[in-house]
Order: sequence, then structure tokens, then C-alpha cells
Amino acid sequence: MNITIIGNGNMARGIGTRLVEGGHTVAIHAKDVTKGNELAAHLNTLTKTAGVTVAPIGSETDDIVIVATPYTEIENVAKEYDGLAGKIVVDITNPVDFNTFQLIPEPGQSGAQHVAELLPEAAVVKAFNTTLAGPLAAGNVEGKELDVFIAGDDGDAKMKVSEMVKSSGMRPVDVGPLANARHLEGFGLIQMAVQDQLGTQWMSALKFLG
Ligand SMILES: NC(=O)c1ccc[n+]([C@@H]2O[C@H](COP(=O)([O-])OP(=O)(O)OC[C@H]3O[C@@H](n4cnc5c(N)ncnc54)[C@H](OP(=O)(O)O)[C@@H]3O)[C@@H](O)[C@H]2O)c1
Repeated sequence: MNITIIGNGNMARGIGTRLVEGGHTVAIHAKDVTKGNELAAHLNTLTKTAGVTVAPIGSETDDIVIVATPYTEIENVAKEYDGLAGKIVVDITNPVDFNTFQLIPEPGQSGAQHVAELLPEAAVVKAFNTTLAGPLAAGNVEGKELDVFIAGDDGDAKMKVSEMVKSSGMRPVDVGPLANARHLEGFGLIQMAVQDQLGTQWMSALKFLG
């Protein structure tokens, strides 16, 4: 698949690593081209196909666009990139107010639904928000495959994201409609809150066993 990642931070690196190791073609869209080139160069060391480029968004060949920016940047991203219309857009964000350490959306709402409102012509799928960047880069935790929880209202889009996840060495778990993203975002918040307690240096993973 051809996949664009917007952002060049920890999650872009972690998800990008899994994607190139799964044989996908990745385009990094970075605000800062130098940082984008650095990430692309790193990812290209992991793939024999040299499939990582730094590119503007909107290429007709993109199957999926992963927005790997802070939640608070999503409105800017939606305004800045016309190319998101008609795409499968993966929202990986944890919409957390870091002053209060509570979720930003009102109770019963989710950041993912807000993203879908901002991008009415895209098929928005929530995924990866409970999968930490370190384990993504490593590909596993203690040898166990990573679970990637996926919520969305467009069945075809969810299936395509699931295929991307599976072919990149992880297990997709469909958790239902986009409204269920609020539960994933709650899990994401709790996962962040317990990291010090766990003492695993952010190398833990949420997974269904069995
Ligand atoms: N880290 C994790 O383990 C983890 C796990 C699950 C979900 N998440 C979620 O994943 C998202 C990214 O997290 P992260 O840890 O990768 O953060 P990060 O390392 O801070 O990276 C954020 C990236 O977003 C870019 N960015 C900001 N505004 C942008 C814009 N308007 N257009 C394009 N790029 C923009 C930044 O570019 P500059 O560097 O140029 O500013 C940076 O590359 C967050 O929403 C977070 O909640 C993170």
C-alpha cells in the first residue's frame, strides 16, 4: 500500500518502522523538510526497497493518510491539507489536556468524532492511540505481537487499515464504530497515567491475551 504519514515525531517513526518492514511505500509529510528527510533516511535503512520519501500530501496514489501530530494540531492539519478529502484518514491522537491530565472532548464524545466532523469527506478511522511509539519501533513487547485497536464507521476503510496493520506484523482488533473511539481514548489516557508506576520506560502494550 501507499501510505502518507503527517508528522515526523515518535509515532511517525514507530508506525513508519512497522510499515516499511511490512513492505509498504511510505511518504512522510513534515512541516520541517530537514526533519522529514532525517526520518525518511532512517526508515530507508530498514527497507531494501528504499520506499520512503518526503512528499507533499494529496498524491492520488495514497491509500491511507496517518495523522501523527498532537490532537491540538488537527484543526490546522484539516485546514492546511485539501488532499485529505476522499482519503482514509487514521487518527492516532490521544486528546489529553496536559494541564489537567484529563480528556479534552466532553464526556460521551471522542476526539476521533471531532476529526470526522473536521474532515467530512474523509473516512476517519481511529487506530494506534493505545500502541506506544517504542513498542511500535521494536515490533513487539516481550516477544508478543502488538494489538492495534481500530474504530470506525466505514467498513471498507476499517478493513483496509486492518490489512495495513496485519501486513505490518501486528494484530488488528476491530472495536466497533467511531463512537467507540472514546473508550480507546480513555484507555490511552490511563496507559499514559500508569507509565511511571509500571516502570517499563514506555515499553508496555495493551493487549488481549489468549
Ligand atoms: N508517543 C506515543 O507513544 C503515542 C502513543 C499513542 C498515540 N500517540 C499520539 O500520536 C500523536 C503524535 O505523538 P508523538 O509522540 O509522535 O509526538 P511528537 O514526537 O511530538 O511528534 C509530533 C509531530 O507532529 C508534527 N506536527 C505538529 N503540527 C503539525 C502540522 N500542523 N503539520 C504537520 N506536522 C505537524 C511535529 O512536527 P515538528 O517536530 O516540526 O513540530 C512532530 O513531527 C499524538 O497525537 C499522540 O497523542 C502517541
